[in-house]
Amino acid sequence: MGALASARRIFAVLDQPVAARPGRPGRAGRIRPPAGPVAIVCRDLEAGYMAWRPVLSGLTCEFPAGRTSAIVGRSGAGKSTLAAAILGFIPATRGEILIGGALPLSALDPEAWWRQVAYVPQAPRVFAGTIAENLRLARPNANEGALAEAVRRNGLLGVVAALPEGFATRIGEGGIGLSGGEAQRLALARAFLKDAPLLILDEATAHLDLETEAEIAEAIAALAAGRTTVLIAHRLATVRRAEQILVMEGGRILERGAHAELLAAGGAYAALLQRAGAATCAS
Ligand SMILES: Nc1ncnc2c1ncn2[C@@H]1O[C@H](COP(=O)(O)OP(=O)(O)OP(=O)(O)O)[C@@H](O)[C@H]1O
Ligand SMILES: [Mg+2]
Repeated sequence: MGALASARRIFAVLDQPVAARPGRPGRAGRIRPPAGPVAIVCRDLEAGYMAWRPVLSGLTCEFPAGRTSAIVGRSGAGKSTLAAAILGFIPATRGEILIGGALPLSALDPEAWWRQVAYVPQAPRVFAGTIAENLRLARPNANEGALAEAVRRNGLLGVVAALPEGFATRIGEGGIGLSGGEAQRLALARAFLKDAPLLILDEATAHLDLETEAEIAEAIAALAAGRTTVLIAHRLATVRRAEQILVMEGGRILERGAHAELLAAGGAYAALLQRAGAATCAS
């Protein structure tokens, strides 16, 4: 319960434990971020985990307000690192991230920024406690109906119903373990409950069966609607729906466009799809 209580405090601002934040900048700003689904712009961004070894370098892109952008690219391209930079977990060593057009991220009050963002990390954590407690990390006053709706939308209602005590079943340490896919869907359900104007989703590569995958793609599309969404995507169904696809390679943006456009260009995106064995679905 001690761990859950501290998790609750942290999740009140963000679906990510403090201990997992590499190099939180000490010179955080005080300005409140603008409300609503604002645009995020990265300009000539350089950032990494160690100053002498930048992971992102000369990265320029825009995540338009209220739209869904997908980021694709091979393992190690820097996709999760870009998410970390946008969240302010790692500081820019050159260039900048601008929020809502003009405000540098570094000038914002980080806690106020995190309140605006629902973040589903690549490997979400499950805390020792009940399913309900794990879900209420995102919204402490959520009633049973809201919890049920959040898990239903993410294909977890059957999973919860099959547990011995439903929402009161203890999971995590000392309780029932969840599979990687179940933990991701639980984190997605938290993002639903948080209902923040910005959404950063680092999709897991864990294999889901086709039916669940379709369900998740549907849930993500519903969640993303009307928010500024940065979707680090591994699933074709979610990538194709994005209004903009950014292809990352070596810490920068290699290609940008819509699915059909990039496919027709026959560049890095087309090659990625082919490698993923997805070319057959890409007509
Ligand atoms: N916590 C960390 N500390 C130091 N270096 C890191 C850390 N996380 C990632 N890196 C480095 O940053 C580079 C990019 O990693 P990142 O996790 O951003 O890739 P990715 O595109 O998200 O890959 P994947 O598709 O496998 O998730 C890697 O080469 C890695 O060595
Ligand atoms: Mg990653």
